[in-house]
Amino acid sequence: MTVADYFDTMDYGPAPESDAEARAWLKSHNSRFGHFIAGAFTRPSKVFETREPATGELLAHVADGRATDIDAAVKAAAAAFPKWSKLSAYARARHLYALARMVQRHARLFAVIESLDNGKPIRETRDLDVPLAARHFYHHAGWAQLGSRELADHVPLGVVGQIIPWNFPLLMLAWKVAPALACGNTVVLKPAEYTPLSALLFAELAARAGLPPGVLNIVTGAGETGAALVAHAGVAKIAFTGSTEVGRRIRTQTAGSGKSLTLELGGKSPFIVFDDADLDGAVEGVVDAIWLNQGQVCCAGSRLLVQEGVAPEFLRRLKRRMAKLRLGHPLDKAIDMGAIVDPVQLARISSLVDQGVAEGAEKFQSPLDLPARGCYFPPTLLTNVEPASTVAAEEIFGPVLVAMTFRTPDEAAALANNSRYGLAASVWSETIGLALDVAPKLHCGVVWVNASNLFDASVGFGGYRESGFGREGGREGILEYLKPKAWASRRPRPTNKKSAAVARPAASFADPALDRTAKLFIGGKQARPDGNYSRPILDPKGKIVGEVGEGNRKDIRNAVAAARGADSWARATAHSRAQILYYLAENLSAREKEFESRIKALTGPSQAQREVQKAIERLFSYGAWADKYEGTVHVPPLRGVALAMHEPIGVAGVVCPDEAPLLGFVSLVAPLIAMGNRVVVIPSERAPLAATDFYQVIETSDVPAGVVNVVTGSTATLLKTLAEHDDVDSLWVFGEKIHSATAEKLSIGNLKRTLVDHGLATDWYDDRQSEGPILLRHAVQVKNVWIPYGE
Ligand code: NAI
Repeated sequence: MTVADYFDTMDYGPAPESDAEARAWLKSHNSRFGHFIAGAFTRPSKVFETREPATGELLAHVADGRATDIDAAVKAAAAAFPKWSKLSAYARARHLYALARMVQRHARLFAVIESLDNGKPIRETRDLDVPLAARHFYHHAGWAQLGSRELADHVPLGVVGQIIPWNFPLLMLAWKVAPALACGNTVVLKPAEYTPLSALLFAELAARAGLPPGVLNIVTGAGETGAALVAHAGVAKIAFTGSTEVGRRIRTQTAGSGKSLTLELGGKSPFIVFDDADLDGAVEGVVDAIWLNQGQVCCAGSRLLVQEGVAPEFLRRLKRRMAKLRLGHPLDKAIDMGAIVDPVQLARISSLVDQGVAEGAEKFQSPLDLPARGCYFPPTLLTNVEPASTVAAEEIFGPVLVAMTFRTPDEAAALANNSRYGLAASVWSETIGLALDVAPKLHCGVVWVNASNLFDASVGFGGYRESGFGREGGREGILEYLKPKAWASRRPRPTNKKSAAVARPAASFADPALDRTAKLFIGGKQARPDGNYSRPILDPKGKIVGEVGEGNRKDIRNAVAAARGADSWARATAHSRAQILYYLAENLSAREKEFESRIKALTGPSQAQREVQKAIERLFSYGAWADKYEGTVHVPPLRGVALAMHEPIGVAGVVCPDEAPLLGFVSLVAPLIAMGNRVVVIPSERAPLAATDFYQVIETSDVPAGVVNVVTGSTATLLKTLAEHDDVDSLWVFGEKIHSATAEKLSIGNLKRTLVDHGLATDWYDDRQSEGPILLRHAVQVKNVWIPYGE
C-alpha cells in the first residue's frame, strides 16, 4: 500500500467525550428540576420532559412555569434590585468577573450538558458556545466597572424579563444576562423548553460563585410561561430572541405598556461569492455559515449567491466538500454535525425541503449514513431555486442551503436584499474595494468580509427590518439595558385642552385677508390634500387663526412614496447634510419675527421668542452633529477589525407634540435628517401652522425634494396609516399617551423601530432631554462590518 492509499482510506475512529460528570449532576438533582428563584430551586409540581436529540432518551423533568411562578420570580428580582443597582461599580464588576471565571472553571460540564440537551457537536459547545459565554461575562465585567463613569447619565431599568431560544442556550443566556446585570438590573430568564438545562446549571453555579439571591432567576416552561413573563406588570423590559412570529406577538402584547423591548429574530442571510473570491476559502466559509449547529442559527448563511462565471466550479467543489462532512453523535469530538434539536424541528425542515423540491428545486444531499435513531438531517443543497420560491424566502432553520447566481455586484446586492429579513451577510472577494463597496448596500446588521459567523462581546449583533431591533454586545448593546437619567424626570402631559375652545371666526366688514391656507408638503412641493377638506386652527381663546389641509391615507401614502424616492439623501455626505442643516438655521433666523408672531398667535406670547431662538440653535446643533455622530472601530480577539457603522434607518414617521409646535418639530426632524433619514411628519394637531410655515424655510434651504414631508390633519387618523405602512422603517411619536400605544401596536407589519414618549412631556428647552445622542441613537442603526486580515 502506498502512502497515498493510506491517505485515501484513512478514517476517523470514534472520539467520544465522557458524559459521566454531566450525568452525575443530573443525578444529584434526581433528574428533576424546579425553577431557580431567589437563590434556590423550587419544588417542582407540574413538569415537562427534556430529551436528548441524539438518541431520543429522557434527560430530565423540568418544572412547567405558570403565572404564579413568574410572579414569584419577578418579586424576587424586584426585591434584589435596590441593593444590586446600588452596589458600587467595582463590586458589580467583581460579581460579573466571578461569573466569567465560574463559566471557565466548569467549561467542560457546560459543554457536555449543552451537547446532550441540544444535540450540537461537543466541538462547537467546547470551542465556541462556552468560551464566548465566558468572554461575554469578562467584557461586561468591564462595563460594570466603567459604567459609573462612561454611562454616568444613565440609570438601570429595573427587573428585566429575558426569553431565549434553544439554538445557543448558554450563549444566549450570556448575551442577555451579562449586560443586564452589568447595568444594575435584575433578571428573570426563561430558557427554551427544549434546552433548559444549561441555564439551570448556570444559576446553581452562579449562586455558588456568590451572586446574591434574586439577582438572577430562572423560570422554565414553554410559550405560555414566556407570555406570562411578557405580561407581568413588574417587568421593565423584555429582551427576546426567537422566531419573528413570536417577536410580533410580544410587540403587540407590550404595546403602550411602557416596557422597553429588544427583539432578535430570524434571518435568511445571503452568502455572496464574487468571481474573484478564494473559492476553496469560500467553500469552507459555507460549511461554517450553514452547517454550524446544523444550520439552526439565526444568522446562518442560508442563501448562497454565486457570481455566474464561477458558479459551476464553486458548486462542484462544495458538493465534494459536503461528501466529506461527518455527522454523528454530538459527544463525538470528530464530527461536524450533530442532531436536530427536536422531532418537531426535524419535521419542519423535511417538509420545507419537500416543498422546495415540489416547487422545482434540485436537491443534493451528502451521501451519509444517518445514525439509526435520534433526530438527524443530512447537509442539503438546493439548486435551481427562484428568488421568490418558499425555500429562498422562508427561514428553514436547518442544514439546508439554497443556491442562486448573479451577474453584477448591483444584482448581488439586490438579490441579497430581496428578503423581509436583514440579520447578516457574508461577502467573499479578494478585492477589498469591492467587498467594502457592497457591504453598506446590504440591508442587514452584520456583514462578514471573507468570513462568516464571527461573534464577540465587544461587537454589537442584531438585525434590520423583520430580523428585529436592538443590539446585543458592544456599547449599543449596553444602552439597551439603561435609560437616560434626563428622561426619568418627565411627567405626564397636562390633558389636551383643545375641546374647551370654541371656534370663533374673526369676521368683520374689513377686506378679508388674502387666502393663505397652508397646504401639505410632499415631495418638495406644496400639495392640496387629497380629500380637499380643511380644518380650522384656533388660538388658545378659540379664535380661528388659519386653516390647514386635512390629510388622509392617500396623502400619507404619497408622502411615504416621496420619502422612499429620496434615498440619495442617505448617501449624501455628512458634510453636505451638515451644510443644509446650517442653511435651515440661517433661513429660519432670517424670518425670526414672522415665526415669533405665528407662535404667539397659536400658543400665546409667553415663550414665542425663546422658542424660535431655541429652534435656530437646535438646527445649528444638528449641523454640528451631522458629521460627528460616527461609528467605532472594534478590535475583537481575532486578526482583524469590526467597523460599527452608523447607518440611517430609512423612512421615519414623526408625530410632533402640541407643546412647542416649532421647537418640537425641529427637535425631532433635525436629528433624523442629520443622520440621513427621510421623514414624513405629522405636526402638532393643535398648532400645525408653525410647521407649515417651516416648509417655506425648507423650500429655500436646498433640502432635496422628499427628504422632509409634512401632512397636517388628525393625528390619530394619520398615525394609523403611518404605523401600518410597510415602507416606513421607523416611527417617533411624541404626544398623547394613546398615540404611543397605537404606534407600537400597529407597527408590527414590518417591525418598525419605534421611539415613543408614552405621554410623558419632554422639556424641549432642556438639551439634556431633547438634544444630541439621546435622540441620535434612535436615528441610526448600527451595522458591524467584520474585516479579518492576513494571508
Ligand atoms: P419560538 O420563537 O417559539 O421560541 C423562542 C422562545 O420563545 C422560547 O423560549 C419559547 O418558549 C418562547 N415563546 C414561545 N411563544 C411565546 C410567547 N407567546 N410569548 C413569550 N415567549 C414565547 O421558536 P421555536 O418554536 O422554538 O422555533 C420555531 C422557529 O423559529 C424556528 O424554526 C426558527 O425558524 C425560528 N427561531 C429563530 C431563532 C433565532 O435565533 N432567531 C431561535 C429559535 C427559533
